[in-house]
Amino acid sequence: MINIVLFGKPGAGKGTQAEFLKEKYNLTHLSTGDIFRFNMKNDSALGKEAKGYIEQGDLVPDSLTIKMLQDEVEKNSDSKGFLFDGFPRTIAQAEALDAFLVTKKWSVTATVALEADDEILVKRLLERGKTSGRADDQDEEKIRNRYQEYNEKTAPLMGFYKEQGKFYAVNGIGTIQEITQRLSKVIDSL
Ligand code: AP5
Ligand code: MG
Repeated sequence: MINIVLFGKPGAGKGTQAEFLKEKYNLTHLSTGDIFRFNMKNDSALGKEAKGYIEQGDLVPDSLTIKMLQDEVEKNSDSKGFLFDGFPRTIAQAEALDAFLVTKKWSVTATVALEADDEILVKRLLERGKTSGRADDQDEEKIRNRYQEYNEKTAPLMGFYKEQGKFYAVNGIGTIQEITQRLSKVIDSL
């Protein structure tokens, strides 16, 4: 069982890299952003609750997010390991994840961050916004709000995982293939 938290600012490439890593390491990829968007598309109760926050670039409240993530893990309880993408994003989520995994006799193996400069990432997201249909990609102010949320609520997780001796970081700038290699080097060393 290996459980990897793929960490990084909005647009750092978490989803892109997860596509390769899930195949390579036979992991179940859980992106809370993707699950929220799926629920919004289907107009589920969860989607309706999350929509307003997501479209403004605010984090969705922990209570909704944690429950949703746990349900997804339960649905995949025969998995050989998980690749958590975009979760946890607050200290409360990280503590809830640890406590939940303990009940399964599992734990977070490592948190691996993709590092990149905000200005490069804002450009990437604005570019993607032209075709992605994501409301949170289309307006620079909303994109900047996502970085503010990251700085205030998510960045403290680096300290949380460093204290546990589980934090690793790689340069997130380069070709997609180069970055997959950097991440693989970390995962292979675990
Ligand atoms: P989420 O969907 O997680 O969005 P995000 O973190 O803002 O980041 P993205 O998914 O946009 O970026 P990514 O790092 O996956 O990069 P990607 O591979 O797509 O969350 C959306 C919202 O949902 C949140 O704002 C919040 O409201 C809510 N939410 C989700 N999880 C939550 C939680 N745990 N708690 C509370 N709320 C939560 O790549 C980005 C772009 O760059 C793409 O166009 C890609 O093609 C391009 N790209 C990728 N790699 C490279 C490269 N190496 N070089 C050049 N371009 C590249
Ligand atoms: Mg993503």
